[in-house]
Amino acid sequence: MNTLFQPYRLNDTLTLANRFMMAPLTRCMAGPGLVPTEQMAAYYARRADIGLIISEATIIRPDGQGYPNTPGLYSPEQIAGWKKVTSAVHANGGKIFAQLWHVGRLSHPFFHHGEVLAPSAVAHEGTVPRMRELEYQVPRPLTVAEIGQLAEDYAQAAANAIEAGFDGVEIHGANGYLIDQFLHHSSNLRSDQYGGSPENMSRFALEVVDAVNARIGADRVGLRLSPGAYVHLEGDKRDRAVFDYLLAELNQRALAYVHLGIFDDSLTFDYLDGRASDYLRAHYDGHLVGVGNYSADTALDAIKANRFDLVAIGRPLIANPDYLAKVQKGEALTPYADAMLTELV
Ligand SMILES: Cc1cc2nc3c(=O)[nH]c(=O)nc-3n(C[C@H](O)[C@H](O)[C@H](O)COP(=O)(O)O)c2cc1C
Repeated sequence: MNTLFQPYRLNDTLTLANRFMMAPLTRCMAGPGLVPTEQMAAYYARRADIGLIISEATIIRPDGQGYPNTPGLYSPEQIAGWKKVTSAVHANGGKIFAQLWHVGRLSHPFFHHGEVLAPSAVAHEGTVPRMRELEYQVPRPLTVAEIGQLAEDYAQAAANAIEAGFDGVEIHGANGYLIDQFLHHSSNLRSDQYGGSPENMSRFALEVVDAVNARIGADRVGLRLSPGAYVHLEGDKRDRAVFDYLLAELNQRALAYVHLGIFDDSLTFDYLDGRASDYLRAHYDGHLVGVGNYSADTALDAIKANRFDLVAIGRPLIANPDYLAKVQKGEALTPYADAMLTELV
């Protein structure tokens, strides 16, 4: 267990107090104007003993919203709200990154009265969770100029995160949202420089990474990826070559870490020859964050086996604000239940 509780050096800028990260967890409890609340500050501060907290996914601009009451990072009021969160976490000795989010085709005009934008005009089947009457729409394909603007908007949100006191940002490139929609064949049918080949399909992800790195420094930037399509889009065996290319490029960029996006890391994918975490380990040279149904014990085994370097914990941290202390003392954890999502404890 000691390994997990030892400090872990990510780079010259960041050394974490231990190898635990709080996985990003959308809670839909931002206030009017999508401004973080005092309650959110207290919720994150309670978990400040975790080596690095990743905030709930935070939208970079209004048309990036896909769920009610998710916080933003584009208005002065939102930046001020986040300052309260980061100050509270820092006062308790913690570190926190903002997860930067645009949902792409998983948005709905209900949230922003504008268009739904995505790589291609392919709708996601179904309705917006928590808002069952809202069906997903066929998105309008982004123009090349709009794609350039989006990369710029991620960079501006990253600068806003630093202004708000975050220690860095995690770019949300996972779970079938905008960046991931470019990386998979089922959602990217483009025939211009953003589609049709591994290099072209990786272009937007890399432009976002490069724009954010240029703005705040790669040592403060993490990236979450889902090479295994497990939610919100269909996998395709041709996706493998896209991630092979993307990861080779990321190896040249000195990010703080890459973080797998998945709910259960025992899932395997034919086109990745097994688990997505093992695939990332084989292709990515930098710090890798594992996640998905891990306990401290199973995470320790995985880290000892060199399958990844750090572990992100999600649902157990919703159920146990004192997760780390309980693990350290060998105390039983409160089991997670979906009913806990209605309250921010
Ligand atoms: C309520 C809830 C909200 C989530 N919100 C996000 C999110 O905002 N961003 C993200 O990348 N993943 C999100 N996830 C996925 C988690 O980060 C994590 O990958 C997943 O819960 C698996 O880890 P666990 O088994 O330790 O819970 C969410 C998961 C849950 C249960």
